[in-house]
Amino acid sequence: MKCDLIVGIQWGDEGKGKIVDLMAQNYDVVCRYQGGHNAGHTIVVGDKTLALHLIPSGVLNPNAINIIGNGVVISPEALIEEMQQFGGLVGRLFISDKAHMILEYHILIDQARERLRGAKAIGTTGRGIGPAYGSKIERSGHRIGELRDTQKLAHSLVEYFETYKAIFEAMDIKIPNFDEMKSTLDVYAKALSPYIEDTTSLVWKSLDEEKRVLLEGAQGTLLDIDHGTYPFVTSSSTISAGACIGLGLSPKDIGNVTGIVKAYCTRVGNGPFPTEDLGNDGKILGKNGHEFGTTTGRPRRCGWFDAVAVKYASRINGCDQLSLMKLDVLDGFDKVKICTAYEIEGKRVETLPQSLENIKPIYEEFDGWNGSRGVDKYEDLPQNAKDYVKKIEEVTGTKVGLISTGPDRSETIIL
Ligand code: IMP
Repeated sequence: MKCDLIVGIQWGDEGKGKIVDLMAQNYDVVCRYQGGHNAGHTIVVGDKTLALHLIPSGVLNPNAINIIGNGVVISPEALIEEMQQFGGLVGRLFISDKAHMILEYHILIDQARERLRGAKAIGTTGRGIGPAYGSKIERSGHRIGELRDTQKLAHSLVEYFETYKAIFEAMDIKIPNFDEMKSTLDVYAKALSPYIEDTTSLVWKSLDEEKRVLLEGAQGTLLDIDHGTYPFVTSSSTISAGACIGLGLSPKDIGNVTGIVKAYCTRVGNGPFPTEDLGNDGKILGKNGHEFGTTTGRPRRCGWFDAVAVKYASRINGCDQLSLMKLDVLDGFDKVKICTAYEIEGKRVETLPQSLENIKPIYEEFDGWNGSRGVDKYEDLPQNAKDYVKKIEEVTGTKVGLISTGPDRSETIIL
């Protein structure tokens, strides 16, 4: 048995939420493998709106179990709050004992660094993601499993704060004393202990028992720490290969890979975005696509479909197919554009360079359409929309397996 995987192809916010919610109904196990509560999507179930940041989407399938893998950085506070939406999750949610914790000082460092960077700020979500992964890599981090002995953990943290006192003071960060630290950790331990598990063995066992396992990526390929638009990236491996590290799987355990991509392109935070449209078209995309960040509420920057970046992302993730989201947001445009190459120092380039600064997009223009909203059969799409989808398949070299024409589950075309 192999795991299926969902991965974001652009700068996140591609609409993964709708697809994982749809797919999670057909899986026994749903796993997150990277990122933290910087990710997020909301789901409407009846008259309730649920916000998911850390808990995998399988939580809405009563028959599925959900795993938060070792590659995720977990704010115990954020997770406990999120869990409260669901009542009891014992036996349905498992948290890797190897996952690293985001503690308050990580959040304060993230926000202080952004302030100090001034105009050069990354535009992070301010959730402590970078500093928590930083602690992990520099080997001063702490794992969820350490909540099993809060006395020892509090000692270790206070010792760390003492050693780096001058740095915390320079950043104007108040450090907790032992008692404060211990009582905070005790709250976390009490709430999370029933869920802490060796999730690597659990995923292996699930595969051995022929369970269907879905791996849910967060953020997107262009935010990957190695392969994205560094330094304007998040601090984890957002690509499909990250699932191996973030869960303890081998590359041979990965089966079908679906890349989620918007029919246009958006980005939150700072950094290069070659196809950004700063004019009226960008405003229309933002308005019609309701482009505001789920976690921070920030307006997203909007622009045209970048086929060079999508082709790269599709290859790096090994995508078997793309799910093309929000096609209906392009309804009403006279002309729509796809960037099929870049101009760099007067030369035409069709591969993604190391830096996306100072790049001019080369566009191909197509006639627009109306009336794709809510369409659920390919035959019913306007011809120009069909031509647009075909062009995307042609220039990215990846077939489109699903088209989304609205937020509702029914507003979906399966090809
Ligand atoms: P961080 O992950 O909070 O460190 O933020 C680093 C960059 O990733 C910023 O540009 C954020 O806007 C972006 N980012 C992080 N999480 C998401 C997400 O879920 N969707 C879109 N962008 C994200």
